[in-house]
Formats: sequence, structure tokens, C-alpha cells
Amino acid sequence: MGLEELEKYAKEYNIPIMQKEGIDFMLEYIKKNNILTILEIGSAIGYSAIRMALLNPNIKIVTVERDIERYNEAVKNIKKFNLESQITIYNCDAFDLNLDEKFDFIFIDAAKAQYIKFFEKFKINLKDNGTILSDNLNFHGLTHTKEKIESRNVRQLVRKINNYIEFLKTNQEFITQFYDCGDGIAISKKKMK
Ligand SMILES: C[S@@+](CC[C@H](N)C(=O)[O-])C[C@H]1O[C@@H](n2cnc3c(N)ncnc32)[C@H](O)[C@@H]1O
Repeated sequence: MGLEELEKYAKEYNIPIMQKEGIDFMLEYIKKNNILTILEIGSAIGYSAIRMALLNPNIKIVTVERDIERYNEAVKNIKKFNLESQITIYNCDAFDLNLDEKFDFIFIDAAKAQYIKFFEKFKINLKDNGTILSDNLNFHGLTHTKEKIESRNVRQLVRKINNYIEFLKTNQEFITQFYDCGDGIAISKKKMK
């Protein structure tokens, strides 16, 4: 089994996995910064966790997925790639996951409407010099559009993502850089005291 098969499966079953440009950017960041411990919120079928683990056998990942079918598929995929010793996956709502460990890197890639809550909950699991990466901040270009968005649900989601962007821009504890890459990425680091 190769990565292409996972990409094909995601396409066929409409599973939102990270886009190529975004994942390449993230993997490069992990390599450049010698990141070894990663917490991922939103595993889906394990694609991004597998890509990160394949970078270096010393990388350890904890990831969480609430959807049972996606979780089962992720467990299967992690096994197929022989990455069980590097990837620990939990099947629960991320808000019920309480970890004591601190990580070099936290990747937020779950329900977009909850990004501020994920950030606030998991920032205590970040090492002082660690990084939080958030994906999908352009939301397919919709967060920048001046045109009226017809769907009420989409409009609400766009508003929430824009609130998250504002939250990051005005955050007292973290400094954030935004990258117009893939579907829009933010890299947040704790401010030095
Ligand atoms: C964009 S997908 C993750 C894609 C994956 N990181 C990748 O690139 O291969 C988001 C996933 O987060 C899961 N999710 C959403 N909210 C969650 C929550 N509160 N707790 C756990 N998982 C959640 C969804 O079920 C979905 O599978």
C-alpha cells in the first residue's frame, strides 16, 4: 500500500485530507525545525499523521479522531505502514482528550468552527518554544471574498474562521504568521517573556 492509495480513498469517499501544497509546507517546517513530538487534532484516515511519521523514525505523534469509521480506517492504515510504534491514535472527541504531555508541534485540523476552543484547550500541551499550525484559514478562498455567500451554514463557518484569524492576530501570548499556502496556514509561536 502506498500514499497514492490513501489519496485515492480520500477522494473516492470524500474525506478531507490536507492539500498537497499545505502538507508539503508542513512537512518542510517539521524537518527544518527538528520537530519530534506532534499532537494532531483531526486524524481522519491517518493520512497526514502517516506523512509526518514517515519523515523520521524518531518522530512520535498523538492524534485524535471522533468519527468511528474514519478512526478504524486510520488504525488500519497506520498498521499497513508499520507505524504503530510512532503513532498513537485516540477515538474520542478532542474536547474529552486530556493529556499531560507537552509537544513540539500541535496541528489543528478538525472542526473549523471550534478552532479558538481547540487552541485554548491544547496550548497547555505546547512546549515553550513549540508551534501550533492551523490549516484551512482561507476556507477555499471564502474568508477573503467580498461576494455574498448564499448558504447560511457556510456564512456562519466563514465568520467563525475570520473570528479565529482575528483571535490569532490579537493574541497576547502568541505571535502568528499567516501563509497563503494550500488552503491557508497559520504558524503560531509563544511570545518570549
Ligand atoms: C480535515 S479532517 C483531518 C484530515 C487529516 N488531518 C489529514 O490531513 O489527513 C478533520 C477531521 O477532524 C475530525 N474532527 C472534527 N471535530 C473533531 C473533534 N472535536 N474531535 C475529534 N475529531 C474531530 C473530523 O471527523 C475529520 O475527520
